[in-house]
Amino acid sequence: MNTHKRPALAGPDPRHFIVIAALATAAGACQGGSDPVEPEFPEIPVSLVLPEEPYDYAGVAIPRHYRTNGFPPEFSHQRAAIDLDNMPADNPVTNYGARLGRVLFYDTSLSSNGDVACATCHDVDLSFTDGLRFSVGVGGATRRTAMSLLNIRFYRSDRFFRDERAPSLEEQALMPIQDPLEMGLTLERLVSIVESKHYYPELFEDAFGDATVTPDRIARALAQFQRSIVTAGANYDRGRVQVDSPLDPFPNFTDEENLGKSLFMDPGSRPVACANCHISEAFVTRAPANNGLGPGLRPDAGIGEVTGNPEDEGKFKAPSLRNIAIWPPYMHDGRFGTLLEVVEHYSSGIQDHPNLHHLLRDEHGEPFQFSFTDEEKVALVRFLMTLTDFRVIDDRRYQNPFFRGIS
Ligand code: HEC
Ligand code: HEC
Repeated sequence: MNTHKRPALAGPDPRHFIVIAALATAAGACQGGSDPVEPEFPEIPVSLVLPEEPYDYAGVAIPRHYRTNGFPPEFSHQRAAIDLDNMPADNPVTNYGARLGRVLFYDTSLSSNGDVACATCHDVDLSFTDGLRFSVGVGGATRRTAMSLLNIRFYRSDRFFRDERAPSLEEQALMPIQDPLEMGLTLERLVSIVESKHYYPELFEDAFGDATVTPDRIARALAQFQRSIVTAGANYDRGRVQVDSPLDPFPNFTDEENLGKSLFMDPGSRPVACANCHISEAFVTRAPANNGLGPGLRPDAGIGEVTGNPEDEGKFKAPSLRNIAIWPPYMHDGRFGTLLEVVEHYSSGIQDHPNLHHLLRDEHGEPFQFSFTDEEKVALVRFLMTLTDFRVIDDRRYQNPFFRGIS
C-alpha cells in the first residue's frame, strides 16, 4: 500500500520570495540509443524558491511542558524533553544552516539516479515518513520502516536508527546518502554534485562563512534542519497548557481521551504504563527495548546486530509518538497497519524473548499482558490521536523549496 503523495505546491507569493535558481530538468530526455519515434517531452523547469530572509529555525518555540518535567516525583523514569536534548554545542541550529539543510533534504540530485532525496522517504505530509512498510530508494526496498523525524533532538543517547548504529545525528546524515539502497553516492560524488549546482555557493557561504563544500558541512546542515522540527501544536498541547500536570484531566479532552491519557501515563493497578518507555511530553523512547513483538517477516536482531552483544538482540529504538496516527504502518518492520493493532499487541500479544523488557514480565516471569477492555483499547487509540499536530505539517519552514513547473 502506498499512501505516499506529493503535496500540491501552490505558487509562492513573489513579493516575499526570490527565485534563486531556475533549473532545467532533463525529464524524458533520451539517454543513448534513442528511439526515433519516441515523442519529445518538453523540459519541465524546476525552481528553487527561498525567502529573501531565512525563516526562523533557531527560534523554534519549545513549549513550557517540554522545558519542565511536570510529572510527580514518584514517576522517576520521567524527564522533561529538553533534558534529553542532543543538540551539540559545536552545531547549534542557525537560520542559515537549517535553510541549507532544508535545500539538501529536498534535493533529488543527491542520489545516483537523480530521483531520491531524504524527503522521498521522509515526507513532511506524513510526518516525515513514507507510509510504506519498507522504504524504497535507488537500489530497491530497505529492510525497515522509515522513522518520523519529529522531535529528533530529544534523544539523549544521541544515537540514531532503529538499531542505533549512527553515533550522532551529524554522522547519521551521510549514511543514507552512501547507502546503495537509499541514495547510492560516494562522498566524493556527493561533493562534486553539490559543487556543480549553482544555487549552493551562496547557501554555504551564508551558513558557514565561505562556499567550500565538505561532507562535514553537508551533515551539519542536514542535522540542523532536522533538529529544528519540534512539534507542540496538537490537541494534547492545547489541553496541557490549561493544567499543571500531564496527569490532570485535560479540559479540552473527551472523557474517552482522558481515560486513554491516564492509561498511557499512569500504571494505576498495573505494574507498568506505556509512558514508562515512551517518556517525556515529546513521547520519545527512554532506551531501546524488546517490546515482545516476536519474529518478523525477516530476521532482524536490531541493536544486537550493531553491538554483537546477545543481550541487545531484538531491541529497537522507537521514534517520538507525536503524530503517530498519521504515519502507519507501525514498528521497525511495519507489521501493524493500525493503532488498534498496536494496542491489541500490548493487550494480549506480547511474546516471550530472552531480552523482553523486564517491565513486561509478570511476577512469575511470564510475559505480562495489559489485558485492556474494549473500552480501554478505543480510549488509548483516541488518546494517541490527540498527539496529531497538523501545524508542523503545514509549516512553511519544512516544505519542499523546489517547485516543478512555472512558478
Ligand atoms: C530510501 C528511503 C530513505 C531515504 C532516501 C532516507 N531515509 Fe532516513 N530512514 C529511512 C529508514 C528505512 C529508516 C530506519 C532505518 C533503520 O533504522 O535501519 C530511516 C531513519 C532515519 C533517521 C533515524 C531517526 C531516529 O530517530 O533514529 C534519520 C535521522 C533519518 N533517517 C534521516 C535521513 C536523512 C537526513 C536523509 C537524507 C540524507 C534520509 N534519512 C534518507 C529511509 C530513508
Ligand atoms: C517496555 C517498554 C515499552 C512499553 C511499556 C510500551 N512500549 Fe511502545 N514501543 C516500545 C519499543 C521498544 C518500540 C519499538 C519496537 C520496534 O519497532 O521493534 C515501541 C513501539 C511503539 C509504537 C510504534 C512506533 C513505531 O515506530 O511505529 C507505538 C504506537 C507504541 N509503541 C505505543 C505504545 C503503547 C500505546 C503502549 C502502552 C499500551 C506502549 N507502547 C508500551 C517500548 C515500549
